[in-house]
Amino acid sequence: MSHSLKFFAVAALALGIAACNDNSAEKKESAATDSTAVKTDDTPESLDSAKFVAMIDGKKTALYQLTNHKGMTVAITNYGGRIAGIWVPDKEGKQTDVAWGMSSVDAFEKSDMAYLGALIGRYGNRIGHAQFQLDGKTYPLAANDGPNTLHGGKKGFQAVVWDAAQPNDSTLELMYTSPDMEEGFPGTLNVKVVYSVTADNALKIDYSATTDKNTIVNLTNHAYFNLNGEGSGEILGHTVQIYADKYTPVDSTLIPTGKLEPVAGTPLDFTKPAAIGARINDDNEQLKFGKGYDHNYVLNGTKGLYGLTHAATFTGDKSGISMDIYTQEPGLQFYSGNFNKSTNTLKSGAKDIHRGAFAAETQHFPDSPNKPAFPSTELKAGQQYHTVTYYKFSSK
Ligand code: BGC
Repeated sequence: MSHSLKFFAVAALALGIAACNDNSAEKKESAATDSTAVKTDDTPESLDSAKFVAMIDGKKTALYQLTNHKGMTVAITNYGGRIAGIWVPDKEGKQTDVAWGMSSVDAFEKSDMAYLGALIGRYGNRIGHAQFQLDGKTYPLAANDGPNTLHGGKKGFQAVVWDAAQPNDSTLELMYTSPDMEEGFPGTLNVKVVYSVTADNALKIDYSATTDKNTIVNLTNHAYFNLNGEGSGEILGHTVQIYADKYTPVDSTLIPTGKLEPVAGTPLDFTKPAAIGARINDDNEQLKFGKGYDHNYVLNGTKGLYGLTHAATFTGDKSGISMDIYTQEPGLQFYSGNFNKSTNTLKSGAKDIHRGAFAAETQHFPDSPNKPAFPSTELKAGQQYHTVTYYKFSSK
């Protein structure tokens, strides 16, 4: 079934913005409090596109669905470029929704999971002491995570409405112009993110940007994955392999110390496949600081598909669905959903339980602008920023 932009535009117009006031979804949501509850109709078709039509900051939001001919569908709204769901076949061929999402744009906006499924910018992850220096000048930023800046400041790219174009059934182009000094970052940044669903069941995210003044950029995506399906419980039984011999240890505020340390001999070692839950509660200072895994891995650069670095392989123990990540980025933040506390109702009716999903954010290392030895995140005026990541799904 094709879900083109035209279909959604027409459906949205026909239903009108008034449809956003329909609170049937909210009623359904409040009825489902059991964290294991899953709607049996958690399919791409069950997402009501009318509930994504709204005006935010004077711009129109909508829902877009990307499909291929191999049974993969991804639903994305241009509000924050947020992924609302990713449906892929499990080992029995059953469509499984492997990404947490909300049932309306309103629910995304009101959720206290500020980054759920979203595009993250201008600077993904943390900047220490909420400031950085560039060309001899200090740029103060918003401290929105203790003393630090997290994910671009108070109103990062997760909370803006992107201009959207859907050139075909499998591609969504999102554009956003971030004004000079927005959230304290210098330079007018023209950003384009292209999401596409490939013929081999990957979600490809292609990020590009240009600036008119020297600046810093580190774009990523904050999808929350549960490869057994949204609402299927904790992710602790998932197995993970991260192709990284080193990581960037952090202080108690999750800012890297600046050292690259071996994972060998620590519970952060995923060089061989291991369950997320096997060592997550070990007596380890780094796990204490992160309240679980919340660490940047220094990727080995293992050659993978698409001519890119093979970053990691995650596998759902119940579904048999694997997700392989390939990227141009030097780092991967593995975050095991430690701060989730069942305060939100997801589109399936399930809660966002503690460790019920994980994020795997391809990125430059946290606090790079203040760590000269880390790969640079500087983008000079007139230069082109371009980086690509694939999340590829398979099952057995
Ligand atoms: C960070 C976590 C943070 C989470 C918020 C992750 O990228 O590493 O520390 O709590 O984003 O969604």
